[in-house]
Amino acid sequence: MTYRKLHKRIPFLVLSVIVLITLLIPNYGIATNSNVVLVSVDEISQIITENPYQKKALTILQNKCNACHRKRNPFLIFKERNMNRRAPRIYKQVFELKRMPKKDGVPLTADEYQILKSWIESI
Ligand code: HEC
Repeated sequence: MTYRKLHKRIPFLVLSVIVLITLLIPNYGIATNSNVVLVSVDEISQIITENPYQKKALTILQNKCNACHRKRNPFLIFKERNMNRRAPRIYKQVFELKRMPKKDGVPLTADEYQILKSWIESI
């Protein structure tokens, strides 16, 4: 192989070495993050329906919370698709500040508090 021919191949050789390094080091590059797990929408809805507290918590939110919110705080109606997103605020109001359910609403039973807590801890 003449020097001229070798010279032409240098870019290709450099590229090959980079590709090789990328393949050998598993977490090389910004696109790879070992903490990211790809799950499909189907899998997510399966997780939601399999969560034993989800349905029970939703029933409580609908009966004890939405019953009043529908009239007095209609911008905060709890639904299956928004409840997990609202969980931090629910936790704060129900367990930390103890503002909800409001005094003039139907209080939660000890069981219902436990279910809400288990649901929030499970998500
Ligand atoms: C008797 C009426 C009533 C009941 C019952 C009730 N709420 Fe509320 N809730 C309100 C009203 C009115 C507001 C808006 C004004 C306020 O924050 O005081 C509110 C606001 C909230 C907020 C937003 C507060 C904030 O600043 O982030 C959350 C979260 C909330 N409620 C959760 C709940 C949950 C969870 C339940 C059931 C366990 C519940 N509420 C039951 C009347 C009620």
